[in-house]
Amino acid sequence: MDDIHEYNAVNSRSRRELPLESLIAPVEIRGVAYNYPALVGSGLLKRLGEDARKYLRSEKCAIISDDNVAVHFAECVMMSLESAGFQPTLITIPAGEKSKTLKHAGEICDQMIAAGLDRHSCVIGLGGGVIGDISGFVGAIYHRGISHVQIPTTLLAMVDSSIGGKTGVNTRNGKNLIGVIHHPSLVIDDVDVLKTLPKREFNQGFAEIIKHAIIADREMFDGLKDVDLENLAPLIRRNIEIKSKIVAKDERDQTGKRAILNFGHTVGHAIERAGSYRKFFHGEAISLGMVAACAISIKKAGLPPDQRDAIVDLLRRFDLPTQLPAKFPRKKIFEGLQFDKKFERRKIRFVVTPQIGSAHITSDVTLDDIREAVGQL
Ligand SMILES: NC(=O)c1ccc[n+]([C@@H]2O[C@H](COP(=O)([O-])OP(=O)(O)OC[C@H]3O[C@@H](n4cnc5c(N)ncnc54)[C@H](O)[C@@H]3O)[C@@H](O)[C@H]2O)c1
Ligand SMILES: [Zn+2]
Repeated sequence: MDDIHEYNAVNSRSRRELPLESLIAPVEIRGVAYNYPALVGSGLLKRLGEDARKYLRSEKCAIISDDNVAVHFAECVMMSLESAGFQPTLITIPAGEKSKTLKHAGEICDQMIAAGLDRHSCVIGLGGGVIGDISGFVGAIYHRGISHVQIPTTLLAMVDSSIGGKTGVNTRNGKNLIGVIHHPSLVIDDVDVLKTLPKREFNQGFAEIIKHAIIADREMFDGLKDVDLENLAPLIRRNIEIKSKIVAKDERDQTGKRAILNFGHTVGHAIERAGSYRKFFHGEAISLGMVAACAISIKKAGLPPDQRDAIVDLLRRFDLPTQLPAKFPRKKIFEGLQFDKKFERRKIRFVVTPQIGSAHITSDVTLDDIREAVGQL
C-alpha cells in the first residue's frame, strides 16, 4: 500500500482527546491533486464540529441531507458544528434516487444563496450515496467550487461512493450522466449511524465490499465470512484504502485501471435497468452481475470453479441474490447492456477475475458470452 499512508497529521495533543475508537482508522487519501482524510470510528458525529474545524476555515456551511436521514442525525450535526463556530443551514430533499437531479441541485444552490453562503463557505453531505453525489456536485459548481465534506450514512456510501471524487446527478435518459470530479476535503464515517439503516440497505453495502475483496484483497475475502458486525470500522477503513488506491492510479477513469472497480457492474447495471431500478437495489443487482462475471471469468480468465462457489457462498451470507427470479425479463437485460458505459465504441471491455484478489480488463468477452452467463443466472 505504498500510496496509502497512515493518517498522522493529528497532533499528539488532539490524539489524546480522541475517543479510543476513533483512532482506529483515519486514512489519508492521496492523489496527484488531492489529499484528504477519512476518519472512521464511533461517536464521530458528536465531535464533528471540532474535527471539521481542523480542516475548514468556513463559517457558513450548508448541510445537505434527505428527509429520512435528517430526522436521525441533523440535530446532532447542527449542534456540533455550531459549538465549533460554524453557522450551519440545513437543506433537506426527499429521500431516494429520484431526487438526484439538476432541478434539486439548482434548488439547493438557490437556498444556499438565500442563506448567504459565499465562496468561502462549505457544503456538507449527510446521507447515503444520493446525498453524497448531489451535495458534491453542488460543492463543485457553487461559486465555481467550494469545499465539500462527506458524512456517509449508508455502508455503501462509506466504502464506495464517498471515496473517489465522482459527483453528479441523473437525467431522464440515464444515471450519473451529468457530473464532475470534485474530491471532498474531509470524509467522516461514524459507524454508529449504521444502526438505523434498514437491513436490506446494510446488506447491499456488502456487495461492494465483496467486490473490493475479489478484485484486490484475498485476505479480506477470507475474513468476511466471520466479520464482526459490531466492529465494522477496520473493515470500512480497509475498503477505503482499496478504493482510494485504485482511484489514485487512474483518477479520471481514463487508463482502464479505475475500471476494475466495475467488476460485476456491466451485467449488474443492465439488471438494475431491466428491473426499472425498483426490483433490485444497486448492490443486489451487482451481486447478480458478479455471479455472471465469475462464470465469464471461469471461461475467459481461468478462475477456478471452486473460487466462484466461494464467492456465491459469501454473497448468500449477506442475503444478496445470486439467482434471478424465474419470471425476470431476461431479454430486457440485453437491451440494457447497450446503455452501459463499458460498451464504448461497441467494444466490450469486461472486468474478469483470474483468481480472488485480482482483476483485469479484457476485450476478449463477446455478447454471446454475456448472454450465456445471464442465461445461467
Ligand atoms: N460517486 C460514486 O463514486 C458512487 C459510487 C457508487 C454509488 N453511487 C451513487 O450512490 C447512490 C446510492 O447510494 P445509497 O445506496 O447510499 O442510497 P441512498 O442515498 O438513496 O440511501 C438509501 C436509503 O437509505 C436511507 N438512509 C441513509 N442512511 C440512513 C441511515 N443511517 N439510517 C436510516 N436510513 C438511512 C436513505 O434515506 C435512502 O432512503 C446512487 O445514486 C449511486 O449512483 C455513487
Ligand atoms: Zn456499485
